[in-house]
Amino acid sequence: MPFALERTGLEEGRIQELLYSAGGLLRTLGWAGPNGQLYQSGTKKFQEVVGFSGHIFKMSPELLKEGLVCLDCSCGKSYLAFVLNYLLREMYGLKATFYGVDTSDVLIERCRTMATLLGYENMSFWQGRTCEFVPPTNVDTVLALHACDTATDEAIAKGIQLGARYIMVVPCCQNQIRGQIRSPQPLERLTEFGLLRYRFADLLTEAIRAQVLRGAGYYVEMHEIVPPTVTPKNLVLTARKTRSSKKGVGGYKELSNLLGVHSPLEGLLPGLFGGDKD
Ligand SMILES: C[S@@+](CC[C@H](N)C(=O)[O-])C[C@H]1O[C@@H](n2cnc3c(N)ncnc32)[C@H](O)[C@@H]1O
Repeated sequence: MPFALERTGLEEGRIQELLYSAGGLLRTLGWAGPNGQLYQSGTKKFQEVVGFSGHIFKMSPELLKEGLVCLDCSCGKSYLAFVLNYLLREMYGLKATFYGVDTSDVLIERCRTMATLLGYENMSFWQGRTCEFVPPTNVDTVLALHACDTATDEAIAKGIQLGARYIMVVPCCQNQIRGQIRSPQPLERLTEFGLLRYRFADLLTEAIRAQVLRGAGYYVEMHEIVPPTVTPKNLVLTARKTRSSKKGVGGYKELSNLLGVHSPLEGLLPGLFGGDKD
């Protein structure tokens, strides 16, 4: 008997509890053995997916009830989408559609097999780059969990171009901006230390992404999905489309000019950076 989705938010503890009882799902995802015991090797991803899902369930309950249409960018084995689909469909009896895209044909084939095994005909998967993916229907939520380097930017750009109501990304490695931080620039006394330059570049990358999302008319927040002891790549950038018109990329330009760096989002969203609509 499905539960009622009465309020916004499904706490992480509850998600974990629900998943522990989902033996078939956990075994198909390769997270648990025949007796339902979680493998040690799957624990980290399990925690990341549970933590990310907790934030996703904070989105508008109306949207969840209407029937979420979700794009999982750089989906890999699509753990996140399979878990969300399980919770929405099997726990809450809600309609949902999931598209997954990844450059790896092996992983996409694996996702298709898992969807068939689980009887999830509402999930489909495409091989290719996120920036080239054209979804067959409207998409209201764009997600990316640990999309490598600029693949996170592709997910953000895709979400903006599709006019998604929510864009939520948990970035992975960030090399693009770090490589561009060179002297002279006003924060040299900070960035001359290797470790600080590394950490600062990560923060700068997320600040830049947040400014671009704001500029495109999104309200942006940042949170941690899991403690840093699980993974240092634990920041989720959540963006909700607002009714206000696009603010433009002034905030982005201030940061970019200050440090002489350019985000790949400039190339991915020429309309936004040129002043036109994307
Ligand atoms: C670290 S894995 C994360 C996979 C999955 N989201 C997860 O959390 O388990 C990164 C994935 O990004 C994919 N990828 C890299 N660049 C991509 C791009 N431009 N478009 C789509 N997928 C990409 C890789 O094939 C890989 O599966």
